Amino acid sequence: MSDASVIPIREDRAKSAWIDEKGYFDLYERSIKDPDGFWAEHGKRIDWIKPYSKVKDISFDRNNLHIRWFEDGTLNVAANCIDRHLAKRRDQVAIIWEGDDPSEHKNITYGQLHEEVCRFANVLKAQGVKKGDRVTIYLPMIPEAAYAMLACARIGAIHSVVFGGFSPDALAGRIVDCDSTVVVTSDEGLRGGRKVPLKANTDEALKKCPGVKSVVVVKRTGGKIDWADGRDVWYHEAASKVPADCPPEEMKAEDPLFILYTSGSTGSPKGVLHTSGGYLVYTSMTHQYVFDYHEGDIYWCTADVGWVTGHSYIVYGPLANGATTLMFEGVPNYPDGSRFWQVVDKHKVNTFYTAPTAIRALMRDGEEPVKKTNRKSLRLLGSVGEPINPEAWLWYYRVVGDEKSPIVDTWWQTETGGILISPLPGATPLKPGSATRPFFGVLPVLVDHEGNELKGATEGNLCIADSWPGQMRTVYGDHQRFIDTYFSTFLGYYFTGDGARRDEDGYYWITGRVDDVINVSGHRMGTAEVESALVAHPKVAEAAVVGYPHDIKGQGIYAYVTLTAGEEPTEALRKELVQWVRKEIGPIASPDLIQWAPGLPKTRSGKIMRRILRKIAANEYDALGDTSTLADPGVVNDLIENRMNRA
Ligand code: PRX
Repeated sequence: MSDASVIPIREDRAKSAWIDEKGYFDLYERSIKDPDGFWAEHGKRIDWIKPYSKVKDISFDRNNLHIRWFEDGTLNVAANCIDRHLAKRRDQVAIIWEGDDPSEHKNITYGQLHEEVCRFANVLKAQGVKKGDRVTIYLPMIPEAAYAMLACARIGAIHSVVFGGFSPDALAGRIVDCDSTVVVTSDEGLRGGRKVPLKANTDEALKKCPGVKSVVVVKRTGGKIDWADGRDVWYHEAASKVPADCPPEEMKAEDPLFILYTSGSTGSPKGVLHTSGGYLVYTSMTHQYVFDYHEGDIYWCTADVGWVTGHSYIVYGPLANGATTLMFEGVPNYPDGSRFWQVVDKHKVNTFYTAPTAIRALMRDGEEPVKKTNRKSLRLLGSVGEPINPEAWLWYYRVVGDEKSPIVDTWWQTETGGILISPLPGATPLKPGSATRPFFGVLPVLVDHEGNELKGATEGNLCIADSWPGQMRTVYGDHQRFIDTYFSTFLGYYFTGDGARRDEDGYYWITGRVDDVINVSGHRMGTAEVESALVAHPKVAEAAVVGYPHDIKGQGIYAYVTLTAGEEPTEALRKELVQWVRKEIGPIASPDLIQWAPGLPKTRSGKIMRRILRKIAANEYDALGDTSTLADPGVVNDLIENRMNRA
């Protein structure tokens, strides 16, 4: 690897890391040649109540699809994240909580975590929650979010965490889909000094959720809220009435741990289901190797627990490893653009894991807010959620990391449970913009549109040829949708929905989604979801939504809207439609640009030609390709003339 853009492994790093480059190749080869032996050994990194004798039982054949890991073993995930550390780490900090307001922070030791989680578990039990029941968690970034998740794991309930930025409608859809009987929320959330009305949103959502019997409310701000007697319960009152101990439930490896909703190319969000044993083995192992986690490290992942990154790399992976994990309630630019680095200095953070969109936003404000902090504790930087452009990568490396900290660009998905492609700090020379090499046991393949495997340096659709323990097991309540979405496009493979390039060194460069999913600030959004929100507005006849390149967000949301006959396209209506989508889905789905489209480019059979819409949205209208199959080629000229993105 002689390319000037390669950043070599630092020698001190290779020595101190869990694994060096040769070690990586040896272990990777073993993991692929003998997956059973490899995972039989590494499955032991967590505590089992009854040890497994079977390791892997997998078929990616869509007519006989099954994915089972460590099937006959039993365990409890919460006991692995808490109880097993108590002998050695009772007084070690498990969670550092940093509030939205810089004057607020809290350290929670493993001993305290045990008590908090047990109490939370007993409160849920008192609300009638039993093993296998679904509990929806709609909380801000407060320690109670982690307590609630672990409490569910402790009693064998399945949690479904819904991001606090989602609207009442989006929350209702997720509660109904998995039939939760209990919702955990808080009076309000606090982000960037602004209050988020979580309880009011829950009240609104529950008008559509007759199955919900109780709402457990955590007091965060003390703000005024409505109260439904007989349904609503203050968490602090209920917690004071229950014992501080709760025995962990013995769970089978394949018992569900959680559901997490994520957007796809079609239909409503899917309930991605993860199970217990394999998920914990995989998240704890990737957390150790990818972040080169060592005893005593202070580790900070800035994600929200409402996303998979928060599940796997704030809560489960780090806590299973007995780590100190930092949980941040706020936002990068509050009170000012130095906040991230002030928190790094305040808590002596060693590992910092964030999304490219945050880096790009901070980069816009220049070096000064970073440089006025010292960041001496940092040893490793991470990136996740979307492709990181080399310019942002280099800024992160140079300005934030002072060229001392490797960057791990981790590629993975809600569906994968944990990181699949990423550098390992002591083992992988870095290339800015590349997620580099697969983790142990992961077999990426690139295929053409017919599903033929492409070898060598090439570009194609990214698939995975065999299972890894953290893989999702099904779509909750709809196994056929699981098969259709992931195993029916390219037979015999798990299809990721991403495109990728592999270079001559075998490094992977993720090029982005190849389906109708867009990635806005690292958040996944189905274009179909935004379209159906738009057409639900009485003045909208038809809508087509595509992504377009956006400097900060990675992709922005571009909507083409056809109004119902007689409606006038006005600025006021444009604003109204943006507000409408925010209300229907949440602020993350707000269209950045809305173009009035008297007609949409369709084939003679009525199919919208999205390729053309994407090109116009990207301001690449002179390379539209073949438009001869359009029913009315005239509409294209109008769309080009009135395009919104002239950047
Ligand atoms: O397109 C890829 C992109 O994010 C998608 C997964 O989104 P989600 O399920 O919300 O999970 C995000 C956090 C794991 C992927 O299909 N993506 C994620 N990480 C990267 C990425 N694209 C490029 N590089 C990455 N490191």
